[in-house]
Amino acid sequence: MINEFTKNLTEKSAEFSLPQELKDLRVFYKESGIPTILDESLSELLLMVSIKNPQNILELGTATGCSGTAMLLTQKTAKLTTIEKFEPSQTEAIKNFKKFGVYDRVTAILGDSYETALTLTGEYDFIFLDCNKASYTRLLPVLKNLLKKGGVLFTDNVLFRGYVSGEVKTPKIYNSLARKIREFDEILASDTDLITCFFDVGDGIAVSYKK
Ligand SMILES: C[S@@+](CC[C@H](N)C(=O)[O-])C[C@H]1O[C@@H](n2cnc3c(N)ncnc32)[C@H](O)[C@@H]1O
Repeated sequence: MINEFTKNLTEKSAEFSLPQELKDLRVFYKESGIPTILDESLSELLLMVSIKNPQNILELGTATGCSGTAMLLTQKTAKLTTIEKFEPSQTEAIKNFKKFGVYDRVTAILGDSYETALTLTGEYDFIFLDCNKASYTRLLPVLKNLLKKGGVLFTDNVLFRGYVSGEVKTPKIYNSLARKIREFDEILASDTDLITCFFDVGDGIAVSYKK
């Protein structure tokens, strides 16, 4: 009840002046079963980007480029490095980055999130972690190294449909993944280099600040 109330208020407030064409595209992808961040989580992501004002953003899990485009339209001077494993998604993302006029600020890398992250040398002030959830734990130390002091790590799906907390009974097929995300959440929460808050928003969000 309270969640619905705050969700509605957030949706009312958090338009963040995204172009209608991008909002329509997100609806189209969602209806086609193509993954993209949930509305309330996107609001939170763009709120954090607005507060942090990052210049160098790293995204793991480009998909069709919706979240990347939204971050770049929100933070007009930021550059984005974004990693995607699935080539057709990356092709679609590049089409979208061009359509919304942000492609000149994007480095789109085709590859596995972990293997690629290991090769990066840049320093990022904002990282959006939204790729294969089973790799979150091994990615964490790599991402911590890439994150500047004072930087923000924004992680999606930390509650994974309620299966992680046990609030919703986990179908057998998701037992292993739910356990891996729970382990990641515990590790993230006890990492003393980071200050992390978990939010029951969308599929569950964790926002971490590097001390
Ligand atoms: C939830 S979607 C990302 C949604 C996107 N951030 C958005 O909000 O528009 C997760 C993406 O991670 C990609 N992915 C899955 N495994 C991966 C891996 N090992 N390395 C990189 N990307 C991966 C998937 O192909 C998918 O496009």
